Amino acid sequence: MLVKPHDFLRRAFTEGFAVGAFNSSNLEATQAIIAAAEETRSPVIVQTSEGAIDYAGLKILSALIRAAAEEASIPVILHLDHGKSLERVKACIEAGYTSVMIDASTKEFSENIELTRSAVEYAHDRGVWVEGELGAILGKEGAVGLHGSRTPDALLTDPKQALEFVEKTGIDALAVSVGTIHGAFTGQEYIRFELLEEIEKTLPETPLVVHGASGISDAHIKQAAGMHVCKINVDTDLRRAFDAALRAQVASASKDMIDPRVILSAAREAMQEAVQHKIELFGSSGAL
Ligand code: G3H
Ligand code: ZN
Repeated sequence: MLVKPHDFLRRAFTEGFAVGAFNSSNLEATQAIIAAAEETRSPVIVQTSEGAIDYAGLKILSALIRAAAEEASIPVILHLDHGKSLERVKACIEAGYTSVMIDASTKEFSENIELTRSAVEYAHDRGVWVEGELGAILGKEGAVGLHGSRTPDALLTDPKQALEFVEKTGIDALAVSVGTIHGAFTGQEYIRFELLEEIEKTLPETPLVVHGASGISDAHIKQAAGMHVCKINVDTDLRRAFDAALRAQVASASKDMIDPRVILSAAREAMQEAVQHKIELFGSSGAL
């Protein structure tokens, strides 16, 4: 069923697990994510980026995910990932999203506070959960390979600013920049636990969100999920699983095999396995 995130994210915070937030832009990804959560008896967040919404259309994509959620035997949260404007937040809430992110992290601190607070006011009046971001996360989802640098200190989340940000905006959870990068850049991205701990001490009651989890070692992900990190975002690692299986399927099929259902089902299965692996790491399996 489609649910609000409040209860599960509160449980994740107090019980030391994280709920996985996985990106979808189509039927196969939505099915893969939900099937993985059903298999592991875990709540799950299906999230759509602005790019995914622009690709599939808000009405169609939201209706697809809401329908899949209603059919599911586990709770599903529909979340807007990296919403950049108040208009987008409003449109998604209108379309039935139960959770939104307002990402004004590239703006000046005061502008970030102002836009985030407006989104919180609008969303909270409608019972919708809100994630804000402070500090910047490098990279681009779906990027793989050479990136070239680690996150510079200036882009990491400053704990003192974070306290002011949370108090002034009223957000439900804070996305932090603690060394992860969007895309998979193993070796250049890792979680800076000393910073994460400092943020936790400064904000002992605030659920945290880690973005850019692809490319981070399983050990780091597991450790973070046991802390105040209650939501972990994964996209690129799922795309990689989907892509590898799709290429293998196309390469091995005869030229006469032109059924997209056959071509895509192996990729869907591979994505489901990748999601299941992440859910196990996050510790939310068996939470239901
Ligand atoms: O918002 C989405 C995520 O942060 C995904 O990042 O592509 O590195 O897994 P990723
Ligand atoms: Zn992200």
